[in-house]
Amino acid sequence: MFYETEDNRHGLAHDPFKAIVSPRPIGWISTRAADGTVNLSPYSFFNALSDRPKLVMFSSVGMKHSAANAIESGEFVCNLATASLARALNRSSAPAPRGVSEFAIAGLTEAECRLVAAPRVAESPAALECRVTEWFRPKSLAGPVSENVVVIGQVVGVHIDEAILRDGRVRMELAEPLSRLGYMDYAVTRDVFELFRPAAPDASDVD
Ligand SMILES: Cc1cc2nc3c(=O)[nH]c(=O)nc-3n(C[C@H](O)[C@H](O)[C@H](O)COP(=O)(O)O)c2cc1C
Repeated sequence: MFYETEDNRHGLAHDPFKAIVSPRPIGWISTRAADGTVNLSPYSFFNALSDRPKLVMFSSVGMKHSAANAIESGEFVCNLATASLARALNRSSAPAPRGVSEFAIAGLTEAECRLVAAPRVAESPAALECRVTEWFRPKSLAGPVSENVVVIGQVVGVHIDEAILRDGRVRMELAEPLSRLGYMDYAVTRDVFELFRPAAPDASDVD
C-alpha cells in the first residue's frame, strides 16, 4: 500500500506513522520549576543527535510542563526507562497539574543530581544531566510553525548504575531498556548482537 500524508487517507484503523518510526527510545524527563516543584514525564519523541558535543532532544506536543520547566530553568534530566519501571513510567505520564510531582504519583524516589537542580529517578540505572542549548517550534513544508516544542540539551553529567556495567561497557541486555512502538505498544531490548563496520567497501563482515 501507499498513501500520501497530505490528507492522511491510509484507510487503516489507526495512523501507522509512529508504528513505522519505532522502536523509539523513551526520554524520561525530570525537571525542576522555578518555584522548586519537580516534574517527571516520558517523551518518545526523544533521541541523541550528536556525540561531540553530546546533545539530546525531546519534542513536546504543545508547551507541556517538562518543556516549559526545561526552557525556564535551562536544565533537564533524561532517565533511562527500563522494563521493570514500565508501570511507573506509564503512571508518570498522567496529566498532573503543574507543581504536582509525578515522582510521588508513580511511587518513585528523587535522587539529587550533581550539576543540575532537577532530581533524577533513583530507581533508573542511568541518567543524563543536561543543560538546554536551544529550543524551537519546527516548521512544516507549507511553512507555518507547528504546535510542537523541540528542546535540545547538552549532556553535562552521566550517572550509571554499576549493575549494568560489564568489562567497562554498559550492557543493555542487563538494563533491559523500554522503547515505544506505535499505538499502545512497547518493546524491551534483550537480544543484543555485535557487528563490526567493514574496513573497506569490499571487506566482509562475516567471520
Ligand atoms: C511512553 C510515552 C511516551 C510519550 N511521548 C511523548 C512525546 O514524545 N511528546 C509528548 O508531547 N508527549 C508524550 N507523551 C505524553 C506525555 O508524557 C504526557 O502528556 C505527560 O502528561 C506530559 O507531562 P508534563 O506536562 O508534565 O511534561 C508520552 C507518553 C508516554 C506514556
